[in-house]
Amino acid sequence: MSSNSSDFSANESTLLDRANAVCEYIRSKLPDDLARTRVAVICGSGLNGLADALNGNVRFEFKFSELPYFPVPTVDGHVGKLVFGYFGKVPAVAMVGRVHFYEGNPIDTTAFPVRVFSVFGIKTLIVTNAAGGLNSNYKAGDLVVINDHINFPGLAGWHPLRGANDPYFGPRFLALSDAYDLDLRQRFFAAVAAANAKHKLNRTVHEGVYAFVAGPTYETRAESRMLKVLGADAVGMSTVPEIIVARHSGIRILAISLITNEVVAEPTPSVAAVAAGDGNHEDISAGKATHEEVIEAAHLASEDLRSLVYQTISGLE
Ligand code: HPA
Repeated sequence: MSSNSSDFSANESTLLDRANAVCEYIRSKLPDDLARTRVAVICGSGLNGLADALNGNVRFEFKFSELPYFPVPTVDGHVGKLVFGYFGKVPAVAMVGRVHFYEGNPIDTTAFPVRVFSVFGIKTLIVTNAAGGLNSNYKAGDLVVINDHINFPGLAGWHPLRGANDPYFGPRFLALSDAYDLDLRQRFFAAVAAANAKHKLNRTVHEGVYAFVAGPTYETRAESRMLKVLGADAVGMSTVPEIIVARHSGIRILAISLITNEVVAEPTPSVAAVAAGDGNHEDISAGKATHEEVIEAAHLASEDLRSLVYQTISGLE
């Protein structure tokens, strides 16, 4: 079996061994200042541009495929690499690309990079993603600072901390009621206010609840209504396993969703309603989500998000 396989079952090394192996490889190639990196950023779909904010002349890049045990994305065009550099004076690593549960990975594998971050000494993690807007006040292009989540796969047993617990990383039973760090959220909103004072940001920033679903299908109308009733403001297929694994090791979290589409939650027009109606209901595909629109919206917002994350991080110690 290749050492880069994400199937750990045939491998007798422990999670800590595997995370250590990646850290040793990376450290052996990094200068001392970057080996002391304490801030990591995960760039979501279409948000790879965040890595470009790392100062250019001191960047070090590692492809996922060269890192032992690191899971490699299978989605076309999703590169996978770690980029080390500086946000202002703060050393940071940006993870470009991630693997998802819907690709067939075990749920804990999707969060393996965060185990690596933890062993590496990362203390602050900024996670970004593309998400569907459930809250009717949300528009495509808006940003959402996540302040809570609903872990659907986790509640059903697909949980990244399921199985033997290694106390090196954290406790068996982990509270998540304080998962979304208040200070980091305040810093992000301060960066938004500063950007608005300088030039109009032209982007609404909300705070809300993210529902993690397995994907890869976008939600049905009935599923979207259910998520809204349950209190979710945005929905997506990533991030929550990473957040849980980070919190397991006491890493503080800032998580930002870019709303790429507004989910369709009105009941499907019935045959009778269409027959009796004004013709507005006949196109039942109106508003349906597409991967292309998700990527396009993310690209458009990438620059704003990049400068807000840059401001947030460069103000850290
Ligand atoms: N649902 C789930 N995941 C998503 C969506 C969505 O509507 N948009 C972007 N990621």
